Amino acid sequence: MAFRKDFLWGGATAANQFEGAYLEDGKGLSTADVMTNGSHKSSRRITYTMPDGTKKSQTVLPFQSIPEGAILECHEGEYYPSHQAIDFYHNYKEDIALFAEMGFKCFRLSINWARIFPNGDDAVPNEKGLEFYDNVFDELLKYGIEPVVTISHYETPLALANNYGGWLDRRVIDFYVNYCNTIFNRYKNKVKYWMTFNEINIMDFMPVFAGGVTKSDAKSKAQAVYHQFLGSAKVVQSGHKINPEFKIGMMTAYGSTYALSCNTEDELLLMKSDQQRHFFSDVQCRGVYPQYKLKEYERLGIKLDKQEGDDEILKNGTVDYIGFSYYSSSVVSTDESKRVTDGNMSTSILNPYLKSTDWGWQIDPTGLRLALNRLQERYNLPLFIVENGMGAIDKVEADGSVHDDYRIEYLARHIEAMKKAVEEDGVNLMGFTPWGCIDLVSAGTGEMRKRYGFIYVDKNDDGNGPLTRSKKDSFDWYKKVISSNGEDV
Ligand code: BG6
Repeated sequence: MAFRKDFLWGGATAANQFEGAYLEDGKGLSTADVMTNGSHKSSRRITYTMPDGTKKSQTVLPFQSIPEGAILECHEGEYYPSHQAIDFYHNYKEDIALFAEMGFKCFRLSINWARIFPNGDDAVPNEKGLEFYDNVFDELLKYGIEPVVTISHYETPLALANNYGGWLDRRVIDFYVNYCNTIFNRYKNKVKYWMTFNEINIMDFMPVFAGGVTKSDAKSKAQAVYHQFLGSAKVVQSGHKINPEFKIGMMTAYGSTYALSCNTEDELLLMKSDQQRHFFSDVQCRGVYPQYKLKEYERLGIKLDKQEGDDEILKNGTVDYIGFSYYSSSVVSTDESKRVTDGNMSTSILNPYLKSTDWGWQIDPTGLRLALNRLQERYNLPLFIVENGMGAIDKVEADGSVHDDYRIEYLARHIEAMKKAVEEDGVNLMGFTPWGCIDLVSAGTGEMRKRYGFIYVDKNDDGNGPLTRSKKDSFDWYKKVISSNGEDV
């Protein structure tokens, strides 16, 4: 058998994409709550109000600094998909029962910071918010499903963005540490697996998603992520004190990258793109800034604001494992005319050997095997694939069934690649949680029609639908995969 006996098969979600109940039981607004929907070709927008009361919005991708003095807020007449999402908040028992029926060993979810600290900097936590996650964890544990918790998944409390500029302000580190220690203490006997930030590396291109950062210049992004590194390193240390059994990981978006040609300039570009791809994991796994990044900062004239003792914090707070998302691979080329861009989270040059999803994400199972090997060689830490999957438009038949053989095909090939990485290459893989195991709101586009789930949720892009849950063909298929521990795909 390729996979270890305690392999963590499950599924993955994020609070702002599936919980809904965006103001219920004392929750505050988070940055996700002021993001409109978009589509494959038009980016989501973030809405704000100028000091003179003018209502404006701007794209999340590409993102440009929000004007000084503007306040991020909801505007009447706009549609914000996070507000109701798929209403897991009120359906968690039914949803978890379905996960249990598939045989999930674990379930990845995030805690919405603004549910616990509505403004981010509150003196005391919101008890109702804490109770909600207690109920969810208890329900999971009732079925023997291990919770895997992302502490911050594109959900910075909005007040931190408006009053502090998000993670750009060093004081946010303390608010985050307080938030983490609160949930660590509260759930120390219920949750063992944690991740400090979802896809920390998206700070480079979506700072407002990644940390409520309203500025888009290179220095601001560098400083903000420096603060996130410190926050993460601090809570790795405090978490281990609170419960030495905790496994606290990092989480990075990680696809394989190829050079379009063997032109040495393309190879050089590949090397540079590899450095950018590894910068975040280099810091969080090794505890120091890599030389290539320090040189880059020097060239750009970026000098990080540091305080005494910071280096020790980073050094002593390296992570226990690497969680990563893998959807697709990309290609780099010095030939600018080959570049493809759209309002999507993933943009790349087309690889002539691969097919793409309806959203232009190139399907590359072998790239997953390469990615696993690459990470293993570089860091020698346990690896956890915490997101993988195929966003697709599903057709509901007259009898309510959904024949999603394309999804089965995608996941089956990726599981086979994973298996080879374990069996032939000896990669240390802890688990696999396909993204959006139940249909949810797309982070990149805000759509519902970009579906990943084994469970169909009846809701459309206008926000209408009864939210009824039903099983797709992939539901029974994944159940079989889990019960055979990945042998029967
Ligand atoms: C990852 C994010 O980047 O990709 C998820 O961690 C996101 O939040 C997922 O949903 C898939 O992207 P999308 O844009 O299809 O939702």
